[in-house]
Amino acid sequence: MSTVIRIDDAKALAQAAAETVAGWLRSALSEQPRASLALSGGRTPLLAYQALALSTLDWAHIDFFFVDERCVPPEHPDSNFRLVREALFDRIVARDTQVFRMQGEMPDRDAAARAYEARLPDRLDVAVLGLGEDGHTASLFPGSSALAEDTRRVVAVVGPKPPPHRLTLTPVALRAVRHTLVLASGNEKADAVRRALEDEGTIEETPGRLAREALWLLDTQAATQLRGEPS
Ligand code: 6PG
Repeated sequence: MSTVIRIDDAKALAQAAAETVAGWLRSALSEQPRASLALSGGRTPLLAYQALALSTLDWAHIDFFFVDERCVPPEHPDSNFRLVREALFDRIVARDTQVFRMQGEMPDRDAAARAYEARLPDRLDVAVLGLGEDGHTASLFPGSSALAEDTRRVVAVVGPKPPPHRLTLTPVALRAVRHTLVLASGNEKADAVRRALEDEGTIEETPGRLAREALWLLDTQAATQLRGEPS
């Protein structure tokens, strides 16, 4: 069962996302010496990452991973690493040794995926996911063979959203995450949100269904097609 929370205001949504992630990380750190956080790219989480940077957390004990990466150099405007660096890493002054970026710029993308898999913890403590208008999450797009992956935790894919070449965690890695937050906002996501959370269907049609057990933070527009009671 998923938990869906609707929050109208973009700033309040970002704040709620930051508090949720910080709370999960604090709880992980109360049980273990280090905690892991995997981050998505895209437009939606930017404010949340900026809000998270202001959270009081033992940042030196957090390791940062990526849910997916576009195959561009790390300083490219499309790079997820660059987005998170500017919104979060630079603000908390994260050390290079705590940031595990996917090397999207490597010409051998399969080798880059395998190298990342070798560094990824068996179970991530926290992941932040987005949802595409077509129902994709991470860089797992509808119909992708990566959705049927049952061994590898990171693969290289080619998808319809530019830039097409990407590295992504697979369902194997995403299902092993302890706490997953899905963030979606805007009318254009409403159909995908409904398909992911309420309709009958498959993850091949709507990869966001992989996160059905997650906590979903939605703005009112993204939640307009949900039939369930607002929370
Ligand atoms: C990426 C993502 C991707 C994203 C969704 C939503 O790098 O493109 O990680 O899965 O979360 O496409 O993107 P927006 O937030 O830009 O709508």
